[in-house]
Amino acid sequence: MSTDSNTKYVGKAPNRVDGPLKVTGTAKYAAEFDVPDLAYGYVVSSPVAKGRIRKIHADKVLGLPGVLHVFSHENVPGLAWFDRSYKDDVAPGGSPFRPLHDDEIKFNMQPVALVVADTFELARYAASILEVEYEVEKHETDIESKRDEGYEPGRGKTGYMPPQRREDADKGLEQSAHRIRHEYIHGAQHHNPMEMFGATVHYHPDGKLTIYDKTQGVYNCQQYITKIFGLSKDEARVVNLFMGGGFGSGLRPQYELFLSVLAALELKRSVRVTLTRQQMFSFGHRPHTLQTLELGTGPDGALLGLKHYALHETSRFEDYTENVVNWSGMLYKCPNVRLSYGISPLDVYTPLDMRAPGAATGSFALEVAMDEMAYEAGLDPLEFRRRNYAEEDQNKKAPFSSKKLREAYDEGARRFGWDKRPMAPRATREGNLLVGWGVAGGVWDASMQKAAAKATITADGRLTVASAAGENGTGTYTIMAQIAAETLGLPLEAVTVRLGDTTLPEAPLQGGSWTAASVGTAVKNTCEALGEKLLKLAQKMDDSPLKDAKPEDVEFVNGLIRLRKEPQQSVVLRDVLQVSGEREIEVDSSAMPNPVNMQKYSMHSHNVVFAEVKVDEELGTVHVTRVVNVVAAGRILNQKTARSQVLGSVVWGISMALMEETVMDHRYGRYMNHNYAEYHVPTNADVRGIEVYFVEEEDPHVNPLGVKGIGEVGLLGVAAAITNAVYHATGKRVRSLPIYLDKLL
Ligand code: MOS
Repeated sequence: MSTDSNTKYVGKAPNRVDGPLKVTGTAKYAAEFDVPDLAYGYVVSSPVAKGRIRKIHADKVLGLPGVLHVFSHENVPGLAWFDRSYKDDVAPGGSPFRPLHDDEIKFNMQPVALVVADTFELARYAASILEVEYEVEKHETDIESKRDEGYEPGRGKTGYMPPQRREDADKGLEQSAHRIRHEYIHGAQHHNPMEMFGATVHYHPDGKLTIYDKTQGVYNCQQYITKIFGLSKDEARVVNLFMGGGFGSGLRPQYELFLSVLAALELKRSVRVTLTRQQMFSFGHRPHTLQTLELGTGPDGALLGLKHYALHETSRFEDYTENVVNWSGMLYKCPNVRLSYGISPLDVYTPLDMRAPGAATGSFALEVAMDEMAYEAGLDPLEFRRRNYAEEDQNKKAPFSSKKLREAYDEGARRFGWDKRPMAPRATREGNLLVGWGVAGGVWDASMQKAAAKATITADGRLTVASAAGENGTGTYTIMAQIAAETLGLPLEAVTVRLGDTTLPEAPLQGGSWTAASVGTAVKNTCEALGEKLLKLAQKMDDSPLKDAKPEDVEFVNGLIRLRKEPQQSVVLRDVLQVSGEREIEVDSSAMPNPVNMQKYSMHSHNVVFAEVKVDEELGTVHVTRVVNVVAAGRILNQKTARSQVLGSVVWGISMALMEETVMDHRYGRYMNHNYAEYHVPTNADVRGIEVYFVEEEDPHVNPLGVKGIGEVGLLGVAAAITNAVYHATGKRVRSLPIYLDKLL
């Protein structure tokens, strides 16, 4: 496939191929599948944070006509948790939460029972009157009271470890002409996709299950279910065709899946379980995190020392660890670095990856600290970053496979008009508004995972490509269709993409910004393999001009297989299929990361964000009036869907800076604002001008497509740029998010 400017689809901006399905309501989500004889489950959640269930009084509820069963730890059959050693794909060290497993309450809103009835309304009513007796124990939920109790998570037990320390951070700081040290805090945040979690389990007459679940990984869920219930893969097909947002909440199998499968198997009937918006706050969150940053520079503004420590909460049963600090050893050049973190268990559910986990929050602290440091050293904040530009990844001691962050700085500064910025805070006013400009950015992994795909072409020239990868709204159907159409020279309309089904070739979880690189490369490889098969058939045709051609001698364009060499003789692809007499041709293939390149290079995407805020000094209200986000993430496959990803990131960054926080009432160990009325996110009126630009990088090392992924990098630095702009406007340095108006009064 050529990715040069001659491409027809790759790098262009075609509309989403699934757009019409979505806007006409034809796209089906997990809780929307119609299956016959469906029963409905409603989850009963614990009102206490810690303790035991003494008794569940189910008699009254079971007496209601139409109520089928009340599942709880008192009656969950022994077949559940068939394989106790099993952990899902992203389970941290420890022991995963097992719903209805025993009488212990580990966190507030823990599911304690599932009421199943003939109708949803009845199940909900019955759940509301189910009497549960609790024995309440004292809970701990406040990380801020545990400042000195964080422990370093065990090596190997969790995914992330900070890199080796570099030289002597303390000495570097002591030798510095300018120094700062501050604590940066943000509260817990919950994933709030529009679509609530839900599963529809179709119980077939032969006892097999088709499970429509809201998830970012159908294979992960299938593994989970088959291990718990002792089923074969053939007995538990998991499907997710569309998702109304995931943001990481669907990386782990959630309890609607376990509960709906349990009920279906026990009742031998199809069952649907959907969670309420309140219950969406009961299974994982971005953890409340306290970060301490220490920076020092020489008289010229060159960084000499950097220390970054992050402490966040985890549950009592798993050691969730987030990579908050590593980025600080990579984004800027600094000879003396110490990165460390601690976790502290509380009576809460295990935190869970949320869009750019660790980096979104780590870049907030680092990039506000960098702004403070720039002022301390008397340098323009962008100039300060340029002076400390990292030419290589110092954590890994390896060159970047590509890095155009400097070009992104230039592009962003020019678009934003940064050179007109006065250095002093409080220098610009518009009536009663103070105007401020801030800058920040970040770095994120360009990852790739093993993935497989299948391609089938039929005699009419239609191509279907399939992989179990998920589509959580990012545009996966579209970019896979683009890659396939480009590779085989077919019109985009001739390509059908199938995703999200365990009957299709295996793909990794849809996360980590790696789907384009992983599944995209698998689709490319598969289509190329299919192309070779088609070439062989073309060579068997009478008087074929391609007789002696090798695969590299031909190209697939405009429905032709054509010799690259002049005079570019060709055969029509559809004729090849007709003449061959084959009704369809199918090919399987896969893609893996290149281990040599992985070792040799550091593969990362970068961005820089410029923000303008207007602050009403008397009211303390902040409006983000302009954001310019420039992203360097390799090649961009689809300008439109990629831009949408970054637009969404900026909206989330505004949210993170100004609004979003899950507030715990520590008396009850319960999140209080577990609804859309009180968990604030931006509305249209809060979102003004957003500009997105890509500085494309030619990267032959990262993967054959040269893509780095765009789902997460755009969020980095947004909250910090806004926080820095608020300082520039008001002269007030806020170090805890969100910037509620009282912090400015
Ligand atoms: Mo993302 S937090 O890997 O869904």
